[in-house]
Amino acid sequence: MNSKTILVSGGAGFIGANFVLYMLKKHPQYKIICVDALTYAGNLKTLSPVMENPNFSFFKLDITDRKGIFELFQSTKPDIVVNFAAESHVDRSIKDPEIFLKTNILGTQVLMDASREFQVERFHQISTDEVYGDLPLDKPELLFTEKTPIHTSSPYSASKAAADLLVLAYHRTFNLPVTISRCSNNYGPYHFPEKLIPLMIVNALADKALPVYGDGLNIRDWLYVEDHCLAVDLIIHHGVVGEVYNVGGNNEVSNIDIVKIILKELQKPESLIRYVKDRAGHDRRYAIDPTKIHNDLGFLPQTQFKDGIKKTIAWYLENRAWWEDILKGDYQNYFQEMYQEI
Ligand code: NAD
Ligand code: TYD
Repeated sequence: MNSKTILVSGGAGFIGANFVLYMLKKHPQYKIICVDALTYAGNLKTLSPVMENPNFSFFKLDITDRKGIFELFQSTKPDIVVNFAAESHVDRSIKDPEIFLKTNILGTQVLMDASREFQVERFHQISTDEVYGDLPLDKPELLFTEKTPIHTSSPYSASKAAADLLVLAYHRTFNLPVTISRCSNNYGPYHFPEKLIPLMIVNALADKALPVYGDGLNIRDWLYVEDHCLAVDLIIHHGVVGEVYNVGGNNEVSNIDIVKIILKELQKPESLIRYVKDRAGHDRRYAIDPTKIHNDLGFLPQTQFKDGIKKTIAWYLENRAWWEDILKGDYQNYFQEMYQEI
């Protein structure tokens, strides 16, 4: 099999790091170059098992640093770029939108300019189903297809949508060989404990209150992170240039049900649940129609939610040091400011 050099931006974050680990295992002949600014969400400990791997290298670099990114492309000559780097938390985008626009839009532009200059064979943009806005709860037959209009709710999703439009514009105008994947909510190991599932696990383990926004009936379509990695691997190798692929788990669950499943698995009482003020502009329901990626690339999620959530909880129990270190840092200030009610 041919060897390839893949530049992964945002590879010290939740999904990016899972992707790095997945690719080094699946394609041991590939070189993986990881670029990450190590913001609050980046964590080199996640990558420690591969730091000594001769096919892996890490560069601490901001994707908006044009000079640094161009020099890195010059020295590493990637064949494929997969852009995971982003500010990714909706609640933070409501508090402070600017960094979302800078990283998610301008950072993507810098990576694409370098990809043009150094003629990469593929630029793959990791996008999100949140670019489609939300669906009503009372029309379960409605799903997001790749043709669903872009209609964003939060500064986060607006910044991701802007990046998607720019990626498609670079394809049309400059012939940059792009693909885009729009995935539903991921869960699994190394998930930063500001997002629903890991936050509920670590709070429940500490017998702390579990903050559920609004009525808790909002629905997300959960996908085990390794399945997202599999989908991206398929797209970069077999996806058609210029195309968008939705990626979903066929697994719609309401927030309150997620919280109850976690409590049950950890044998903690439901009295820990606290309903708190709703998120501003809170999207009601996300649900992906996965027909295209299934028919065109043969993608099917491998991990059922009932197994994936057990594996995830077991991982948090077995890897306390990973998340306890995070809780000791700036996270405390974030948590106190964000969850004043509890
Ligand atoms: P994350 O916040 O865990 O990780 C983001 C990573 O990007 C971190 O390592 C961070 O240090 C890095 N980063 C941030 N700004 C950077 C910059 N300017 N330059 C270089 N690196 C920078 O996010 P995640 O959950 O792993 O999400 C990864 C991607 O997947 C994002 O593009 C997100 O929009 C998309 N996505 C996430 C989900 C999900 O459920 N988490 C679902 C669909 C799509
Ligand atoms: P989150 O993990 O932030 O992902 P996203 O907003 O990108 O879907 O949130 C998932 C759902 O859980 C969302 O409907 C908001 C809700 N939520 C809570 O109810 N409480 C919380 O403390 C958090 C972080 C999220």
